[in-house]
Amino acid sequence: MPISDSVKLKGKVTIFHPTLVNLYGCEVGDGSRIGAFVEIQKGAFIGERCKISSHTFVCEGVTIEDECFIGHGVMFTNDRFPRATNPDGSPQSDADWTLEYTTVKRQVSIGSGATIVCGITIGEGALIAAGATVTKDVPPYAVVAGCPAKVVGDVRTMSAAKKSQSVNQVAEEVVG
Ligand SMILES: CC(C)(COP(=O)(O)OP(=O)(O)OC[C@H]1O[C@@H](n2cnc3c(N)ncnc32)[C@H](O)[C@@H]1OP(=O)(O)O)[C@@H](O)C(=O)NCCC(=O)NCCS
Repeated sequence: MPISDSVKLKGKVTIFHPTLVNLYGCEVGDGSRIGAFVEIQKGAFIGERCKISSHTFVCEGVTIEDECFIGHGVMFTNDRFPRATNPDGSPQSDADWTLEYTTVKRQVSIGSGATIVCGITIGEGALIAAGATVTKDVPPYAVVAGCPAKVVGDVRTMSAAKKSQSVNQVAEEVVG
């Protein structure tokens, strides 16, 4: 798998296994690190000092700002209603679907196996639990979990909260 000539790697980007990634038409910022079996499509932007863990898919239309952690096997999407073909059976082309953009603000962490449904913004510093399916905007510093993902806490108070109660107890307080 290649790193296409169309990729803009800014400054010092670390790609641990350059022969085992598929990068084309994307931009990756200084100090970012990219694991094996990652695909980053054209029109995707990765900021500075991010970590993109192995087996993750970052599609066209996704912007990941600086200092984000993206876990293993995280799946971004950009077509809300995907179809292989048009009603007449002809293969769909770029003209036959609508790209929806997704923004991941700075210092977000996304746990392994999360799926990010397109057209949303994940707020600064938020934490997405492993395996979550995120379908709506995530407020800054929120912890979200589950399918569909719900707010279960706040990263700014999580450490203190964890001393005496679980994420789900925090969730009951936050969600009501
Ligand atoms: C969300 C997360 C930060 C919560 O951690 P935590 O505060 O230690 O949570 P706890 O283990 O105390 O679990 C609290 C409750 O939340 C539930 N929970 C924990 N993680 C969950 C998840 N990913 N999805 C749904 N529920 C989860 C637990 O089952 C538990 O439920 P209970 O109260 O009914 O028993 C953590 O579980 C997580 O998903 N981290 C991301 C890990 C990851 O993917 N790392 C990247 C690659 S190494």
